[in-house]
Amino acid sequence: MIVCVCNCLNEADCERAAAARSVDAGEDLHAVMGVTVCCGRCLPTMEAIIDEVRARREREALAKAAEEIAA
Ligand code: FES
Repeated sequence: MIVCVCNCLNEADCERAAAARSVDAGEDLHAVMGVTVCCGRCLPTMEAIIDEVRARREREALAKAAEEIAA
């Protein structure tokens, strides 16, 4: 699914970029991907992707800590 029509960025690319680099905002995600914000309509979706990636990272860290405690 295309997330940013202006820059032709799809959801998978956004997820990979958000996972690879620590970003806090949609503008940061654009910069990581080497583009700039044009209309800005994609920013809420990009920020949802960032939140999802951050939550996944936190869940994985908690699961790893739980495994280490149990071992
Ligand atoms: S849709 Fe992303 S800047 Fe326009």
